[in-house]
Amino acid sequence: MKYILAIETSCDETAAAVVRTDGLVLSNIISSQIDTHKDYGGVIPEIASRMHVEAINIVIEQALQKANKEIKEMSAIAVTYGPGLLGCLMIGIQAAKTLSYLYDIPLIAVNHMKGHIAGNFIHEDESKIHQAQYPLLCLVVSGGHSQIVIAEKENHYHTIGRTIDDAAGEAYDKVARLLELGYPGGPIIDKLSEKGDENKIEFTKAVFKDKDPENEFGFSFSGLKTAVINYYRKHPDEKKEDVAASFQKTVVDTLVEKTIAAAKKHKINNIYMAGGVSANKSLRKNLENACKENGFNFSCPDFKYCTDNGAIIGGAAIDKLKRKDFAKLDLKAEPGLKL
Ligand code: KG4
Ligand code: ZN
Repeated sequence: MKYILAIETSCDETAAAVVRTDGLVLSNIISSQIDTHKDYGGVIPEIASRMHVEAINIVIEQALQKANKEIKEMSAIAVTYGPGLLGCLMIGIQAAKTLSYLYDIPLIAVNHMKGHIAGNFIHEDESKIHQAQYPLLCLVVSGGHSQIVIAEKENHYHTIGRTIDDAAGEAYDKVARLLELGYPGGPIIDKLSEKGDENKIEFTKAVFKDKDPENEFGFSFSGLKTAVINYYRKHPDEKKEDVAASFQKTVVDTLVEKTIAAAKKHKINNIYMAGGVSANKSLRKNLENACKENGFNFSCPDFKYCTDNGAIIGGAAIDKLKRKDFAKLDLKAEPGLKL
């Protein structure tokens, strides 16, 4: 079995991991910048890049140490090359290229969104590694992206729906900011909603009809975000718990309905989920129940592999290592990279 050192710096987490080619995670070190960015209510790209520079070497060293491995034992160095913040991506890429050149280890360029999907198929406990079942359908919901993708077989993904405005995580973050709940909004609203009445306010789900046949199962969360904000301005005495829970119900219902409709239409039985929002307890429970009702198989990443980390990037690199799909040393960051 071979080992991959994986590096992730696309947004506000400086992360490195060592992953074995069967999906076993040997180490997964994350240096989060949330404490710094939360003072600003969002990620400040300049600060994020600088903090990646400060943390990257330490994080890589710790990942190797924790895995009890030497860099020379690595068969590949994997790194996120997009999508993400340009300055942030560049730090990880530069670190990966330097190690690849110095130790003569192949470089693997990983699409961050494929990393999120790979979060379903890795684990630090060997008995919990889930083998991908194809064809599969995956709801990918993060801070920057919301999409439904289909894969007929390994590494053959195509998108059948994406958001035309705010991503699901972005809507959570913006609503949380306007309700003055803190950053990042997803986990805060998730927790607060447990104490609220999700049926208190009925927010309208976006009726989405995209003329683009490639976006039949698209999303739009910007109208909902505005509706929540307008509602709260008009009803400042409303309990934030109820507003949060009602907002969350609308998001979760939309995501679940679209995913199930897409699975039915495309006759796909294996349903997965990925990205930061897939850590949402209500979404996990509701999608699982809906899959059960429809006779679909459902699986989602362990909580620690939902939000950004290095192990998911290592997971997505396994297939590329097997195919010897290596990147050259002139690899460049692609902030707008698509799945
Ligand atoms: O995947 P991720 O770590 O970064 C991107 O690639 O964007 O996702 C971060 C997003 C943030 O918007 C955050 O608010 C959201 O995921 N998030 C959640 C939860 N945990 C993180 N959203 C809803 N419920 C959660 N428990
Ligand atoms: Zn991410």
